Amino acid sequence: MNSPTKITVIGLGYLGATHAAAMAEMGFEVLGLDIVPEKTEELARGRSPIYEPGLEDLLRRHVAGLPDSTGRLSFTTSWADLAAFGDVHFICVNTPQRAGEYACDMSYVEAAVESLAPHLDRPALVVGKSTVPVGSAARLTRRLVELAPAGEAAELAWNPEFLREGYAVEDTLRPDRIVAGCPSERAETLLREVYARPIAAGSPFLVTDLPTAELVKSAANAFLSTKISFINAMAEICEAADGDVVMLAEALGHDDRIGKKFLQAGIGFGGGCLPKDIRAFMARAGELGVADAVSFLREIDSINMRRRGAMVELTKETLGGTLLGKRVAVLGAAFKPDSDDVRDSPALNIAGQLHLQGAQVTVFDPKANENARRVFPTLRYAGTAIEAAEHADAVLHLTPWRAFRELDPEAVGEVVAERRILDGRNTLDPELWRKAGWTYRALGRPTA
Ligand code: UGA
Repeated sequence: MNSPTKITVIGLGYLGATHAAAMAEMGFEVLGLDIVPEKTEELARGRSPIYEPGLEDLLRRHVAGLPDSTGRLSFTTSWADLAAFGDVHFICVNTPQRAGEYACDMSYVEAAVESLAPHLDRPALVVGKSTVPVGSAARLTRRLVELAPAGEAAELAWNPEFLREGYAVEDTLRPDRIVAGCPSERAETLLREVYARPIAAGSPFLVTDLPTAELVKSAANAFLSTKISFINAMAEICEAADGDVVMLAEALGHDDRIGKKFLQAGIGFGGGCLPKDIRAFMARAGELGVADAVSFLREIDSINMRRRGAMVELTKETLGGTLLGKRVAVLGAAFKPDSDDVRDSPALNIAGQLHLQGAQVTVFDPKANENARRVFPTLRYAGTAIEAAEHADAVLHLTPWRAFRELDPEAVGEVVAERRILDGRNTLDPELWRKAGWTYRALGRPTA
């Protein structure tokens, strides 16, 4: 049965498109808005503008006007239609890093509130999902009440999103926790209704004040970044002391208090979230007069960025000290597997650095070639891993797609100029490659 509560989703990127489709899957009537008409048009045809496993299936099941769909999901570019339609409005726009600064750019969130509020003439709940600096929700609440004809009957809650790209559908339908910064009982009741399905299935529902809800997200991403940079710092030590960071991580992970997850050493973290979120967190802490509390994040950031340089150096060393004129195949361009997202991608960044230092770089990514080409049109792009590897003096494995782990070292060996494989993600099997006559090198691992 359809729920009487109607939902809108503002901003239809990785977060919003998935959230809108998942809300329709949970039985709600949903209207999604994006200021880019091409995006809403594509979604209205049941096609996803981004690659996210499972998302197109959900769209096909629910987008209005498609054969056999529930018709629960529609799209618009009109703020008036959005306000007239919805009881609960989710803000899912992005908050990128500001050019030349650590702080995040709040202009899209602010524009969303300013555009929606003047149309809110009956009680409504606006729910922020975007990652924002602590204190934003309080400020946006004042703006909302000021601009909305409904006045204080227009409320603002904060409900941060913890989805991982590549698992966005799964994480949205079955979140590991729901954090709801609620200004009132009414807001809490509405959010419990919206999330009734995952709550019934066991997702913990944590009610907090607004600043705590905002902070949970910044703290979670700071912790995850710290975990990755910790193991990458250990990789640096392993390199100096001839240790093996993969064995080290495995041994650490058996301690329940540490755990195995997010201890994968390699070229480090990237994407549209972790790097900019730790910087925005530092900037906000500075504004609050507590910069020292998170100054360690500066070190986390620099350990992470050093890994990219280390991979370039390892490639240079493997190729005899110079990259000039050397042919390098780069497997992977997305910042992580099962995604076509190349924002701050370590793989693409390394490919670019190699190119700038004179190497002839050919990149292959199963889903991100097109996005990568837009950022780095000067690199060459191949249609398959084997094609990228043709005549290569070295093959670099930089995004850990499953398909790369399944490559046959013998088959790749037949097309390269030299059998040299550099594993930037420590997910290939060194034995397998060495047995096929390859020189296998990786960050934080012994050379032989
Ligand atoms: C991250 C968080 O994991 C989500 O919980 C959060 O909701 C999201 O940011 C967000 O703020 O929206 P995501 O950016 O999709 O999710 O990617 P992650 O899975 O966290 O991976 C980030 C980067 O770290 C990738 O480049 C990945 O390759 C790298 N990584 C991850 C490692 O280098 N080692 C690891 O052990 C794990």
